[in-house]
Amino acid sequence: MRYLITGGNGTIGFALAKALAISVPTENVMITYLSRKPPQNIVEAKELDIRDRDATIALIKSFKPDVVMHSAAITNVDLCETDHAPADAVNVQGTANVLEGCKSVGCKIVYISTVAVFDGAKSVYAEEDTPNPINYNGFTKFKSEELCRAYARHLIVRTDQPYGLVEQWHKKNTVLRVVEKVRAGESVREPTDWYNMPTYIPDLVNAIAKLLEGNATGTYHVVGPDFLNRYEWALRVARAFALDETKIVPITSEEFKLPAKRQRVRLSIDKITKLGIKMRGVEDGAREMKKLLES
Ligand SMILES: NC(=O)c1ccc[n+]([C@@H]2O[C@H](COP(=O)([O-])OP(=O)(O)OC[C@H]3O[C@@H](n4cnc5c(N)ncnc54)[C@H](OP(=O)(O)O)[C@@H]3O)[C@@H](O)[C@H]2O)c1
Repeated sequence: MRYLITGGNGTIGFALAKALAISVPTENVMITYLSRKPPQNIVEAKELDIRDRDATIALIKSFKPDVVMHSAAITNVDLCETDHAPADAVNVQGTANVLEGCKSVGCKIVYISTVAVFDGAKSVYAEEDTPNPINYNGFTKFKSEELCRAYARHLIVRTDQPYGLVEQWHKKNTVLRVVEKVRAGESVREPTDWYNMPTYIPDLVNAIAKLLEGNATGTYHVVGPDFLNRYEWALRVARAFALDETKIVPITSEEFKLPAKRQRVRLSIDKITKLGIKMRGVEDGAREMKKLLES
């Protein structure tokens, strides 16, 4: 099997690439990046702007993947909110271009989507519930999901707050930020009104691999089992890392004055659980990270 990963230098894309690089011959994996070529040559990396339709289709046609893992996107939700045009061009039109490439070689697309396609009005969402995004990033992801669903060979994976050990060029996730700050003796201010289902990246990678192994198509929720606010999450991280919990200070997100609304969405993971896919809770994930950092 041959795999092409768009946004392959990004947090999720690079984790997918690292896992594939040890499970399939490296010549069968290619990653693409826009602006930052990864310093580690784990597999071949090609520069690609998915806004460039012809270049996107040409690359897919020349590499001839069996699977395209499409993780390239503008992920900054506040940027998407204040400037719709780049979000439309990359997240929606870019996905349309990637899909056109997939159709030209008949390969499968794995689309990395988000909880933000839902508004949070329901207490828990199953995969087939109707999306209703409340911010523009969520809207672009929903539009892209619809494009993918119109192509039979799609696998849509909705996730939330991916965390784990990341590369030095990646943005620090909540766990790494809390640990770094508290270890430096600083306080961490975390909102009590932002709720998430934090997802340990190695579990996300493993779930995608299992879904592909089982030839799954359609939409799947792949998030950690805990639904909690950022303050509670930070406390649990501090506990797992044996850090001073008094350094975690509860605030409300009012303070941030951010343009994009945040949804409070709980996803059901029954569908992947029935397939035997296991996802770690936040304390187990943080403990695993501590162990890896100390090894
Ligand atoms: N992070 C989250 O909280 C979260 C939650 C749910 C779902 N997701 C989804 O998961 C996927 C991966 O997210 P991530 O956290 O790994 O994001 P990330 O670290 O910000 O990576 C985004 C990737 O997209 C690439 N990219 C941006 N614009 C591009 C363009 N015009 N052409 C080609 N590549 C472009 C970036 O390349 P450069 O770095 O080279 O610019 C980068 O490789 C995204 O689809 C995102 O919507 C993320």
